[in-house]
Amino acid sequence: MRTRTGLKMVVLCLGTLVTASAFAAGNAEAGRSKAFTCMGCHGVANYNNVYPTYHVPKLGGQHAQYLVSALQSYKNGQRSHGTMRAQAADLSDQDMEDIAAYFESRTE
Ligand code: HEC
Repeated sequence: MRTRTGLKMVVLCLGTLVTASAFAAGNAEAGRSKAFTCMGCHGVANYNNVYPTYHVPKLGGQHAQYLVSALQSYKNGQRSHGTMRAQAADLSDQDMEDIAAYFESRTE
């Protein structure tokens, strides 16, 4: 049990190191305009979209690495959510990194 947890930590740390450099390429300024359509759902108070009202996850302040992998999962079908799959389908890897950098830099 102890060993497994320790191993997990090591893997997590390595993952962070590797991706920290890989995602330095994300450009938050470019991401801001690319994220324009996302804001209709993800940019509103209380994290509900406008209409019909349903809860959407908060993106601001989440790690860029996590956001990119979430978007890739929607795009490749590992995550099945019709709306987000459609959103992610048109994004290139660079788009995802830019958008993720933008959301990571937001505090809300
Ligand atoms: C029509 C509303 C809508 C739009 C537009 C939209 N999203 Fe989403 N988004 C959602 C919903 C609803 C979920 C929750 C889906 C689920 O349960 O998997 C979600 C989930 C996500 C997640 C996963 C968050 C997490 O914590 O796991 C990411 C990342 C994301 N969206 C990014 C984006 C980006 C980037 C755009 C613009 C390209 C965008 N979304 C546009 C509604 C939207």
